[in-house]
Amino acid sequence: MPVTIKSAREIELMRTAGKILGKVHQDLGKALKPGMTTLEIDRIGEEMIRSYGCVPSFKNYQGYPASVCVSVNDEVVHGIPSRKRILREGDIVSLDIGVIYKGYHSDAARTHGIGEITKPARRLIRRTRESFFAGIRYAVAGRHLHQISAAVYDYAKGYGYGVVRDLVGHGIGSHLHEEPEVPNFRKLTRGIKLRPGMTLAVEPMINEGIDRVEWKKNGWTVVTGDRRLSAHYENTILITRGRPEILSITEDEIAEGIWKPGGKL
Ligand code: MF3
Ligand code: CO
Repeated sequence: MPVTIKSAREIELMRTAGKILGKVHQDLGKALKPGMTTLEIDRIGEEMIRSYGCVPSFKNYQGYPASVCVSVNDEVVHGIPSRKRILREGDIVSLDIGVIYKGYHSDAARTHGIGEITKPARRLIRRTRESFFAGIRYAVAGRHLHQISAAVYDYAKGYGYGVVRDLVGHGIGSHLHEEPEVPNFRKLTRGIKLRPGMTLAVEPMINEGIDRVEWKKNGWTVVTGDRRLSAHYENTILITRGRPEILSITEDEIAEGIWKPGGKL
């Protein structure tokens, strides 16, 4: 399937999906407490998603058993919620969530600290988010896709972090995964030319140590090769003639000045 340009109607539905997803992330992030199990997080998240009339897109996707991917500490992505996994003070937890609203998808991830976390952990989380914003400076019509990739990579690499290469971002719309792939590392090609109406999930996965990752025996959970920490930050964005629209940004992030919403399509 080729890269699609979304119609005004599709964009409106994706805006709604993104707004709901931002709210779910914001509320679920605030609900995290030491002593909670990762299965409880999934239950609460799924409840929130359905309360907005959305469907959790990850549930049963290629056999994935939950609505929220909950990845703790050295887990990079696709952690499977479990009643045996209990959050403890000092853990870092990545929540990756996908919702479908009237047939249109939004996909976003955030990493949170549980209670007091170490300074290196706080820095990793912040710089992972910053690498996303470094990348989307190039998410403008007329630029080429891999400029985003290179900017994410250079930002994170500049701090000596490992930038995950085995998983990538993606186009998104009426399907969770559409073309093109959105790598977080430099490519030899410049990639497709970006055009207004393209929608992408940009999702740096950044490791404290080496970039290499491994898959656990459950076939899903990705962990760092050196078992050091990993963080994830993802949003669904809309390419415009100017600055992109971040469809899944949270109200808190706007209030904190992390992102100032700007030009529309
Ligand atoms: N954000 C991830 C992705 O884009 C989520 C997929 S998890 C799955 O691939 F459970 F749905 F597979
Ligand atoms: Co994604």
